[in-house]
Amino acid sequence: MKTETERLPCVKAGRSRGEEIRQTLKEFKLLRTDAKITSDETFIYLPLVRALTDAELSEIGIKEAPTREFSILERRKSIEAIIGFKPSYEVIGDIAVLTEAIDNRKEQFVAQALMSLHKNIKVVAKRSSPVEGVFRTRKLEIIAGENRTETMHKENGCRYKLDLEKVYFNPRLAGERNRVAAQAARSSVNAEEVLDMFAGVGAFSIQVAKRAPQSHVTAIDINPDAIRYLRENMKLNGVRNIEAIEGDIRDMYGNFKDKADRIIMNLPKSAYLFLREALSMLKPQGGILHFYDLEFAYPEEGEEKHDALERAITQAKEKLITNFQELGEESRSVEILEARKVKAYAPYAYIIGIDAAIRK
Ligand SMILES: C[S@@+](CC[C@H](N)C(=O)[O-])C[C@H]1O[C@@H](n2cnc3c(N)ncnc32)[C@H](O)[C@@H]1O
Repeated sequence: MKTETERLPCVKAGRSRGEEIRQTLKEFKLLRTDAKITSDETFIYLPLVRALTDAELSEIGIKEAPTREFSILERRKSIEAIIGFKPSYEVIGDIAVLTEAIDNRKEQFVAQALMSLHKNIKVVAKRSSPVEGVFRTRKLEIIAGENRTETMHKENGCRYKLDLEKVYFNPRLAGERNRVAAQAARSSVNAEEVLDMFAGVGAFSIQVAKRAPQSHVTAIDINPDAIRYLRENMKLNGVRNIEAIEGDIRDMYGNFKDKADRIIMNLPKSAYLFLREALSMLKPQGGILHFYDLEFAYPEEGEEKHDALERAITQAKEKLITNFQELGEESRSVEILEARKVKAYAPYAYIIGIDAAIRK
């Protein structure tokens, strides 16, 4: 409900980059979440908690940061005001998952407060294992609400049915998926062949297939549950231009030799070990790799956190280039088009996303 207006610093971005920039600002706690985002035909205006520095503006690739009048939304009573502290949690569909351990005696209290504040939350769970194994899944323990781990998550205009214990899914990759899908939609290649090597429930594949309907996506995953959900999600989202295949990419990459214009390699712990397979599946004239990598970078003495991040980005670029060179590709070269932090993985550990062009 609108109550008042306030003049606030904001980011003025082209509409096509709106969601990606909103996610970035939100992640860095720069977005004024109590002010209403506005847009016109060309631009979206994202209200900020403070004016950004020139360095911050250039980091997100934005030139203009004007001030503007925004409607201020009536504040809802915060979880902090109810329970006395701010728990860390993420919401996937109608399931809230506590992402940091809290005192056992307070769990019920926190869970009930979350459900009473957010009527859309029907289950509250906590993590009971790290993400592990080939399927990259984790165990959850239900604290309150319905006894289930299956849900329907909405992201960037797509719907994903998934079971949080049976498949990998991370809602914090929404901005990244939006970015990759936007690139595929803008591609100059006619009827682009996209290969999602580690597709999960189709989070990237479905967004690409929907935003770039002229493309054809091959989505592969070794986890049978992921492929089962992927097929269901294709129907849910009305996309037909995906072929979903269950199996180990190492056993089947030969079937897709010289086929792809664009390859998504979202397996950050070990994507670099699958570079040979990816290069063999790219068309001989080359194409685009969306390469994800996990890097650790502890700040050295006197170093700021953002310097450590820069180091992590450099390490990821070097990993890609070194592994490419070791494969002895003589007729093709690799060019890094963009490298950035996708999300924090742990303190001083980052998922780095690299867009790379492989060229003849
Ligand atoms: C980090 S998850 C990414 C899932 C999806 N791209 C997303 O964004 O939600 C990695 C996925 O790779 C799959 N995977 C792991 N090793 C694989 C392999 N050798 N061949 C095919 N899929 C594999 C896992 O089952 C898991 O679903």
